Amino acid sequence: MEVKEEKAGLRVPFIAGNWKMNKTIAEAKKLAAEITKSAFNLEGAEIVLCPPFTALYEVAKTIEGSSIQLGAQDIFWENGGAFTGEISGSLLRDVGCQYVIVGHSERRQIIGENDWIINRKVKAALRNQLLPILCLGETLEERQKGLTLTRIKAQLDEALKDVNQDDVSKIIIAYEPVWAIGTGVNATPAQAQEAHHYIRMLLAEKYGQELAACAIILYGGSVKPENASSLAKEADVDGFLVGGASLDHVSFVKIIEKMIEVKGK
Ligand code: 13P
Repeated sequence: MEVKEEKAGLRVPFIAGNWKMNKTIAEAKKLAAEITKSAFNLEGAEIVLCPPFTALYEVAKTIEGSSIQLGAQDIFWENGGAFTGEISGSLLRDVGCQYVIVGHSERRQIIGENDWIINRKVKAALRNQLLPILCLGETLEERQKGLTLTRIKAQLDEALKDVNQDDVSKIIIAYEPVWAIGTGVNATPAQAQEAHHYIRMLLAEKYGQELAACAIILYGGSVKPENASSLAKEADVDGFLVGGASLDHVSFVKIIEKMIEVKGK
């Protein structure tokens, strides 16, 4: 199934920085302040910072009054109660988050999160008016076995199980091939486009053309200022989820600029 492209213009370029387990409170405040300052004049993109939990409050205060939004890196699926060490959607809303990353491959691979958990987390985010940034992507072994698209479909189907159409329309999808994360080896623009186009087609088949054409699909995995333009030029790449290069304001803001240059209005 092909996706009609006339709605592509409605997709706002979207760049999120996933700081992972980096930055003390003082470092996070400094980085957020630098990004806010240098991105001040940039229009036409949604920018989201995802610091560690410990820095969310201070980063929220630092970006207040700017158009930059706050995201968390994880969420627990229950609303509250005796769940030692976990953070609920309502607590994330309380600290100022609008977004939350769900299903990052580091949580799948290292912590052992499965599709069942990820589905519950997606629903918990939506229930708490948080917009999920749902990560999916194949391992190197899966790619080498020709299972890339099969794996993407399985992850998408499972994560969106019993999520209604209206809620699916709020989800940002991030295609992050595991072999490209933190390795310096990014997917080629053609590899990214193939995966993104496939995801959009799956959304069209299940939820209709309109939803698919408006869906924001990010690429993540060794995005740098040097490769941002060529990736952004692909039709179905609407933005980036940036790890390492988001830890430095110069490289992160350059990536935002490149994205706006290619896809901005
Ligand atoms: P890198 O940009 O460091 O490869 O990380 C990507 C990522 O995992 C973003 O969520």
